[in-house]
Amino acid sequence: MALVPLKRRSRRGGAQAGALSPPAGPPDSGPFPALVLYLVEKRMGASRRAFLTQLARAKGFRVDGAYSAAVTHVVAEQNSGAEVAQWLKQHQVDPGAGGDPALLDISWFTESMRAGQPVEIQPRHRLVVTAPAAQRGRQMAPYACERCTPLLHPNRALTEALETLAEEAWLSGSEGRSLAFTRAAAALKALPGQLETMGELESLPGFGDHCRGVIQAVLEDGVSVEVERVRLSERYRTLKLFTKVFGVGVKTADRWYQEGLRTLADLHNTRLTRQQQAGLQHYEDLTTPVGRGEAEAISREVQAVVQQFLPGASVTLAGGFRRGKPHGHDVDLLLTHPEDGQEAGLLSRVVSWLDSQGLILYQHSQENSYGPREGAKPPSASGHLDRYERCFSIFRLAAPGTHRGWKAVRVDLVVAPASQFPFALLGWTGSRHFERELRRFARHERKMTLNSHELYDTRQNLSLPAASEEEIFQHLGLEYVPPEQRNA
Ligand code: UTP
Ligand code: MN
Repeated sequence: MALVPLKRRSRRGGAQAGALSPPAGPPDSGPFPALVLYLVEKRMGASRRAFLTQLARAKGFRVDGAYSAAVTHVVAEQNSGAEVAQWLKQHQVDPGAGGDPALLDISWFTESMRAGQPVEIQPRHRLVVTAPAAQRGRQMAPYACERCTPLLHPNRALTEALETLAEEAWLSGSEGRSLAFTRAAAALKALPGQLETMGELESLPGFGDHCRGVIQAVLEDGVSVEVERVRLSERYRTLKLFTKVFGVGVKTADRWYQEGLRTLADLHNTRLTRQQQAGLQHYEDLTTPVGRGEAEAISREVQAVVQQFLPGASVTLAGGFRRGKPHGHDVDLLLTHPEDGQEAGLLSRVVSWLDSQGLILYQHSQENSYGPREGAKPPSASGHLDRYERCFSIFRLAAPGTHRGWKAVRVDLVVAPASQFPFALLGWTGSRHFERELRRFARHERKMTLNSHELYDTRQNLSLPAASEEEIFQHLGLEYVPPEQRNA
């Protein structure tokens, strides 16, 4: 595709013909000599920014890759004027030397591209810069992936109340209702201070009447009667007990409840899968939190075996431990090798060896089923399911000092080829809600689909490669959120 119209290309001459190369010419070259554009990457994303830059340069605009005093038009997408002004302040190369660029919304850019020349700046194109004072009651960002959510936060009593209701809704099969409670709880977890008045909820996204009622009750009475009733209900307690058995989902637990089963002892009289039998047999160990030390010991153990079969391969501890949690319900390990394809066949050898050493109490594996996509069909971003080769297992971890000398620990081993590894790492670090929000953000705000294998841009019909988690956030136009701030 000729990116520069022929007429313009001949007028601009040899040195200027490479419209795709970074601007080399002085500001007074090209058809619009008075203009130097700068596109803000934040929220726009690296890929869309590159695309728009190319588009504008093809139309003869000068678009600079770096911000400088020469820039006359700063264009941002989904940023407030205050955010852009703040950004400019931080990036001012030489304070005072710079002009006073116009801060513009993407609408100005789009209209100019359509017109094939810069359109006159209308008031509606300008980003409004509000005074800092007006920002105090500012809204919290709506998506959990746009916020920092530390592990410890000052609103535990409130989030636990909401999360009990989320769990109750989930155990009742009401995913939508469950999500609403989870979203509200996630917003509270991102608040730096303790919530003291109902008015403070105004700045938080996702608080409907029901959630507000719960918060009001806890603020005023210390407890919510509704939450207490749920906690004591036989159904809730029984379903929680049953779903904690490895291999038991909500549907099975609910069926057992309907059949009148109430205790773990009752389960011995019902038909169980091999996985559930193992889950029941090791119930006590598997519901005892796994400590970080134990997780790291297992990680080292697996690393040693992995090295033995495939030198250069690595093992990464993901899940809650990567987010800084001191305890977890399982150990999530990602296996990879720097060279794509080398990882094939690794998992079965590692698992067989561990098994032969008596280190595995239970395991079942799933094969990799992620092939090249057919045509340009975008990948699915539904659910948590990914299609990596994976082993669901129970390890027999040495536990000196205990009466048996060992402890059963749930371990998931997942194998990802190097080219997909950053996506696997991002997907397996969680939290589950953070992941769900990333995918929702990608879909609704960027027209992209994200899963644990890839990020796909449906506007450009291409898969966006990434060598690190940071690059995935960049593609999405999101500020990087480190693992320990993903505890939504
Ligand atoms: P976990 O369920 O292990 O959660 O899934 P966690 O955050 O580590 O919490 P604890 O401490 O073990 O209870 C870890 C991440 O792996 C992803 C989930 O989305 C979660 O973010 N995951 C889990 C998958 O992508 N697929 C799965 O089948 C399971
Ligand atoms: Mn985990």
